This record gives sequence, structure tokens and C-alpha cells, in this order.
Amino acid sequence: MLKGKKILIGVTASIAAYKIILLVRLLVKGGAEVKIVMTPSAKEFVSPLTLSTLSKNNVLYNIADEDTWANHVMLGRWADVMLIAPCSANTLAKMAKGICDNLLLAVYLSATCPVVVSPAMDEDMWHHPATKRNIESIKSYGNVVIPAEHGELASGLIGEGRMPEPQMILNFLQENYFRGSELTGKKAVVTAGPTYEPIDPVRFVGNHSSGKMGVAIAEELFAKGADVTLVLGPGSVKPAFNINIIHVSTADNMFNAVSSVFIEADIAVLSAAVADYKPADIAPQKIKKMDEKFVLEMVKTTDILKSIGNAKKPHQIVVGFALETTNEREFAIGKLKAKNADIIVLNSLNDSAAGFGVDTNKVTIFTKEGEELNFPVKTKQEVASDIVNLIIKKLDK
Ligand code: CTP
Repeated sequence: MLKGKKILIGVTASIAAYKIILLVRLLVKGGAEVKIVMTPSAKEFVSPLTLSTLSKNNVLYNIADEDTWANHVMLGRWADVMLIAPCSANTLAKMAKGICDNLLLAVYLSATCPVVVSPAMDEDMWHHPATKRNIESIKSYGNVVIPAEHGELASGLIGEGRMPEPQMILNFLQENYFRGSELTGKKAVVTAGPTYEPIDPVRFVGNHSSGKMGVAIAEELFAKGADVTLVLGPGSVKPAFNINIIHVSTADNMFNAVSSVFIEADIAVLSAAVADYKPADIAPQKIKKMDEKFVLEMVKTTDILKSIGNAKKPHQIVVGFALETTNEREFAIGKLKAKNADIIVLNSLNDSAAGFGVDTNKVTIFTKEGEELNFPVKTKQEVASDIVNLIIKKLDK
């Protein structure tokens, strides 16, 4: 999502400037190209040396040195996005008035790219009418403001005015500026996580699924431009982006949620570890310990994948998972056919790098066209990217 993106960061004098170090690291790690301009007093808060080392570009803070002149016009034209973070009350006020007494402000005034501003200041400054007016002014110029958060402030007070954490700012940029367009206009539904089947008011039958794989797929579909609904089981990890989530608990809840959105969907990826059986009856009161043995009668849940596989229209792509410990290939191909899926992703519990809770996975993908694609151990994000790329290829056909 970040590969090849050009981001210009303007850093101003605020304690929150320390967070920019991590943000630059995250952006560069994601493949973005980062250039940084600072106000002269921002250097008191974070060192240009640290930022130039991490961004792999010279950090600029003077309009002109003895024999060089920083081309502020070209910087603003070079960037896909300019982010001013942290933006102090002083710089905000100057931006609102169009004052241009340092390099950062000159770049801001001449920027032709979208400008995103993340203010950081103490609560009283944040609530001052002048700050509120300045925020409204820069919004009226078309700048986008990431609202300051509530939390611990540099003064020691707790209140509003905090700059969000680097990961939040990164997510904001990705969601709003760096989504791909391969799946624009497509709707996707993804299931992730376990289901909990209640036995009585305090107990349930569940499993160890963390939801990581499904959440990574939902994020990847979103990153490629799809409109994603994530049907998420209990205790699962949450997606990084602002994806529409339907929280569910039982297999029945999950089935109802998927059925309600599948009609409109182009893509369904069912990665949840759905309980195959649920207790035949849920005891209305806590079951008391009595005999030496306790037998729980269970009945089958609806197979969600099979149900939507059978209902799918020719334009809909349905992807399922198979988690096997024996006869993996045979069972996976069997599930592809029995559940009328287009793609089955097999992950084997025999591999320590694959399965529940870990950040890596090793998969083999089977398609209804008879392909068998073997992948090495990869991160769940990379596996998600392989699956989504295959979906895009199938949709293009
Ligand atoms: N699945 C589902 N609804 C169920 C059970 C499974 O949608 N009630 C889906 C899973 O999300 C996964 C696929 O079916 O995409 C395969 O799940 P898996 O547990 O491996 O297989 P089962 O069909 O349950 O068969 P078995 O447990 O016998 O291996």
C-alpha cells in the first residue's frame, strides 16, 4: 500500500515530535519515500540527524543557506501527501493566516498535493477560540485535520490535545490516500476468528483461533479498494483500518450475518474457525457439578461455506479454508468440491509456522480450475496478499 508513495512530513515544535521518529520508520519500512522539513525550533525537540538517517533523505529547515536555496515549490509538487505533524498552535495560526516566515510554511503554501494536519498542544490551547477558528480556516482551504485525542499531555494534565500514535496516523494516511483501485466498486465479506457455542450462562465450547489470518485478508481487500464487511468472532484481533465489522458470537450468528451481506457481495472469504457442533440445549442456569461423568449432547451447526457456495451466482467468488492434520491434499480438494467453493486455502497444522495464534502461515491453494499453488512460509499479511491477488486474477477473467 505504501510502496513508492511519496510523503513529505512537516515537523513543528511540540513534545509530540518524538512520535515522528517511529512514524518515519513505519513509512520507510512499508516502502514509502519520505522527505522531512522542520521549523527551526522543531530541532529543539527532535534531531534532524535522527530523521535524516531514518528517512534516508536530508532534512531541510532553512529556506536558504550560504550558497543553496531549498526549492520549496518542488517539494510540494514531489509529494503525494504532505503531513504536518505534530502541528503546534503557532504553526497552525500561521497556516491559517498564510504567514510564510520559515521553510515549512513556504512548502505548505506552495503545496499542490493534499495536506493533512495533526495538531498537538495542551488542552487549554486546543480549546482556545483562536485555535478553533484556525482549525476551521485551514479546513476551509481544503486541508484535512486529524483530530487531537484525549489522553496524557506534556503538561502532566489529562485532556484533549494529544497527537494520535504513529500507527494511527499511518492507518489514517493509508485509508484515505493510499488505497489501491484493483477492487474499487467490489463488495467483500470476510469471516474471521472462532465461534463460542454456549453450554450454560457461564460456559461455552470454543477454539484457539485468533482471527489474524481473516483480519489480514480483510485489510488486504480494503487496501486494494474493496468495500469490506468483516464478520468477526469473539476475542479476535481487530483490523487496523476503519472496516465495517459485524461482531458475532455463535455459528448461528455468523451464518445470519454472512447470509445478510452475501447477496450483495462479489467476494466471500470464509476463514473463521466455525464450530462444527453446538450444544443441543443451552442450560438456562449454571450447570452444577454432580456425577463423575458429564455428557454433552451436541448438534451440527450450519456449514456457512457450503451454504453460500451452493447459493453463489456466477459473478461471485467464494474462498474457503481447510485446516487439516492428515491427508491434507485429499481433504482440501474434497472440501473445494463438497462446498462448491472457487478456491480453498489449505493450511497444515503439521507445520509449526502455520496455524492458530502465530504470525506466519504456510499454505497451498487449490482452485476449482484444478490449479495447486504451493507457497513457502510467509507472514499472514503476505499470505493475505497472495490470496487477494489470486482473487483479483479470477475476477479479471
Ligand atoms: N466452515 C463454515 N461453517 C462451518 C464450518 C466450517 O463456513 N460450520 C468453513 C470454514 O470457515 C472454512 C471451511 O469451512 O473456510 C473448512 O473448515 P474446516 O473446519 O477445515 O472443515 P469442516 O468442513 O468443518 O470439516 P472437518 O472439521 O471435518 O475437517
